[in-house]
Amino acid sequence: MKLTQSTALAFAATALALPSSTTKEVARKVNAACSSAVTLDASTNVFKKYTLHANSFYRAEVEAAVKQISDSSLAASAAKVADVGTFLWIDTIANIAKIEPAVSDVPCDHILGLVIYDLPGRDCAAKASNGELKVGEISRYKTEYIDPIVKILKNHSNTAFALVIEPDSLPNLVTNADKTACSDSASGYRDGVAYAIKNLNLPNVVMYLDAGHGGWLGWDDNLKPGAQELANAYKNGGNPKQLRGFATNTAGWNSWDQSPGEFASASDAKYNKCQNEKIYVDTFAPLLKSDGMPNHAIVDTGRNGVTGLRKEWGDWCNVNGAGFGVRPTADTGDDLVDAFVWIKPGGESDGTSDSSADRYDSFCGKDDAFKPSPEAGTWNQAYFEMLLKNAKPPF
Ligand code: BGC
Repeated sequence: MKLTQSTALAFAATALALPSSTTKEVARKVNAACSSAVTLDASTNVFKKYTLHANSFYRAEVEAAVKQISDSSLAASAAKVADVGTFLWIDTIANIAKIEPAVSDVPCDHILGLVIYDLPGRDCAAKASNGELKVGEISRYKTEYIDPIVKILKNHSNTAFALVIEPDSLPNLVTNADKTACSDSASGYRDGVAYAIKNLNLPNVVMYLDAGHGGWLGWDDNLKPGAQELANAYKNGGNPKQLRGFATNTAGWNSWDQSPGEFASASDAKYNKCQNEKIYVDTFAPLLKSDGMPNHAIVDTGRNGVTGLRKEWGDWCNVNGAGFGVRPTADTGDDLVDAFVWIKPGGESDGTSDSSADRYDSFCGKDDAFKPSPEAGTWNQAYFEMLLKNAKPPF
């Protein structure tokens, strides 16, 4: 329907009379989706054309957080966080139900980010994010998790999606194979990741395989095996056309380009040239290329605004003193990096600090971890406020 000027004005007036959240809702719905099927060219940087969408789930978490802040200037800054694009984590079969509502307000020039995260024996080297599927439940992963997601993304062919595939899984196979839980999980991880990228290889989807971070696969001994592990998954997935490359620093803390790097003066620094994420991407990407895998990256800058907080590079849980980092942008200054993105929704916990909990991991009890912290994925208001106060650039 083409709006005449008067109907448009009447519509605007009605919208103005509504409470503000409803007004935003109306505005977003008016713009929703494209009028025809989206085709993403994964040989190009799709983030140049599409903005990472500020999804309604994170928006709701942030809006609830704002209500709890009494300081009005802090509350005003907090409200701005709701407009930042983040990825929505599909971390259980039940949470597949989040996709439909999240799709409903994505305008045609935005891309909805999803994290695919439910492998059997998930988080094999830690406890905080152990998942619902047990080692061996690979057929459930395929039929009850990946297949329904594929169906939904096919049904929404007019919407663009960016997927981060299974954070930590392949990196764990490279460096934690000596842990029984990881060696037991290995075949399911490899089979599951290959199945995921083969079946999610849809025209409206672009995919990035998680590659840990510079302090993980960046060690001299890990670079080549890491690239091989990812490239094998790509091949076993049938060289999917929509796979663009890799994701780094997911839920991580590393600086993009601090030099010298945060851990450059550590005694073992000579064994790792990838002291920041830029060096890591620029070092890892050529290895992927020679192994035959597409090699463009996205880098999580959601919580890397403050450095110098971790005792050790491997400290991953709710780092105390952290701040929000650079907002999502395709302006990265590095041809290999498509975009800085927010993959981990800042304010959601990395793991519980309650030492009596089943999923308590000692990393979440370390001196440099924020306490108290709730179960992984659960909102932590105090942590959110800290990220906001320490944000760099500020809100
Ligand atoms: C948790 C997930 C959560 C994600 C994003 C992970 O550490 O295990 O349940 O969805 O973080 O907050």
